[in-house]
Amino acid sequence: MKPSQAKNSLFCFQDPEDYRRLRKFFESVGFTAEGVLEALNIKDVASIRGDDIARLLRRTDRGTPLDILIRLFLIEVPCDVTAVEKAIEPLKLTSLEQVGLIQINGPQVSAAVKLLPYQNLILAFDSPCMLQTDQAENYVMGVGRSTLTLANLTIRRHSRLTLDLGSGCGTQALLAAEHSDRVSAVDRNPRAVQLTNFNAKLNAMSHVAAFEGNLFEPVHGQTFDLVITNPPFVISPEMRYIYRDGGMQADQICRKIAHEVPSFLNEGGFCQILCNWVENSGQNWYERLAKWFDGTGCDVWVIRSETLDAETYAATWIRHTEQAEPDRFAGRFEEWMAYYAAEGIHTIGAGLITMRRTSGRSNWFRADDAPNKMLGPCGEYILQGFELKDFLESIKDDKDLMNIKLGVSPNLCMDRQLVPSNQGWKETATQLKLTRGLAYVGNIDPYVANMIICCDGQRPLRDLLSEMARSMGHDPENIAPTFYKVVRGLIERGFLLPTWLQKD
Ligand SMILES: C[S@@+](CC[C@H](N)C(=O)[O-])C[C@H]1O[C@@H](n2cnc3c(N)ncnc32)[C@H](O)[C@@H]1O
Repeated sequence: MKPSQAKNSLFCFQDPEDYRRLRKFFESVGFTAEGVLEALNIKDVASIRGDDIARLLRRTDRGTPLDILIRLFLIEVPCDVTAVEKAIEPLKLTSLEQVGLIQINGPQVSAAVKLLPYQNLILAFDSPCMLQTDQAENYVMGVGRSTLTLANLTIRRHSRLTLDLGSGCGTQALLAAEHSDRVSAVDRNPRAVQLTNFNAKLNAMSHVAAFEGNLFEPVHGQTFDLVITNPPFVISPEMRYIYRDGGMQADQICRKIAHEVPSFLNEGGFCQILCNWVENSGQNWYERLAKWFDGTGCDVWVIRSETLDAETYAATWIRHTEQAEPDRFAGRFEEWMAYYAAEGIHTIGAGLITMRRTSGRSNWFRADDAPNKMLGPCGEYILQGFELKDFLESIKDDKDLMNIKLGVSPNLCMDRQLVPSNQGWKETATQLKLTRGLAYVGNIDPYVANMIICCDGQRPLRDLLSEMARSMGHDPENIAPTFYKVVRGLIERGFLLPTWLQKD
């Protein structure tokens, strides 16, 4: 039997050339992120939703191969066999059916998976409709909100070996492949492993390989420059879906990852965990969390995106999966609330944990709130946050700050709010803002504003403190403690940068 006649199996073409043929075919008919956006006249392919169907069908009514592919794999409506056969020429329907991309039901073809052109990738994953079937447990998610959040925060410097833990269809692994020599992906769900391997081959990424297993088991003995994970972090009594439910008490799956990852990290290597955690009443939100990292040998930065009360949290997550059957909502909700009551859980935090293995000195822990906006990719700003915290930790005595020369971030901008008054325009607020990456915003007074604009990378902070004190009519000694605190805060958030960190 010739390779092309051999039988394909689920998500595995028998003939390796078929991956290339399929990829080239998609490119040739414009089934790319750009092509789909243009055809549908939308801004974001990941947000195509069922309630847009009528509009999307109207925009794909010319019967071109691109229209047919969009209808089949993105809008997910059955299409006429003959029309699909013609649209996919020279590919064969049977080949796509054998590999598990489509199902042929008499005169109609429907998609067996979604196929999404995302950035410069094509990704196959399960349709959310699968959540309403008896196959729901093994559902492999596509590009969700959590996927995008982690992808946007991933540190994208060169990595020799990267691990995507809980790879799903492999989105993080394939994005990391761009800046990694090799990527290993691990998932407990065999279907996710098959889809990750299929997507790696479809996108010609021979340096990505997926393995089936529980957490770090399949990569035992290996060490990584980067570990990225969007684990099943949802805190609930359920073990219904592998993609969502970690199967451990409360937030223990994330704690376990944080505890075990250091031995899988190279010195200086990073681990980024998208995480939900329980927050104890009567404590700062990060106090319980901080204990997870005791003895890990890692510097840790936790960025909190939100804290929800248990009711809102349960309702939000149950709605994700119970859209089609709202009747089941009440029962589930009561079950979840009873679990929280038994576990003493009242509030749940969410955010990103970044750990960096750093030996030979005591480790630092930083925890703060995410800025309201993240403007563009943020990985380089996470890395910069580590460098700035290292810098600040290296200057234990505030007095040593006085010799430092600082410059302003290239992304710095100031907003002034003025209101009319009898004396003309009166300034009521001055805000400092970063306009790229982690776009922190902070209120400042005119004295600090003046000090910041004098940070030209040439003058030591001692001079700036003296000038500020003079303009305020104070002795520098008296304002020094507040000055140090303000300057440290401005450096930590990246408004002011040591000269060696200033980039254009
Ligand atoms: C929230 S999904 C994330 C998928 C993908 N990485 C992303 O960012 O879109 C979590 C993934 O972790 C996998 N998973 C669940 N428990 C696991 C375990 N114990 N070990 C490895 N993978 C696991 C699930 O099958 C699922 O694919």
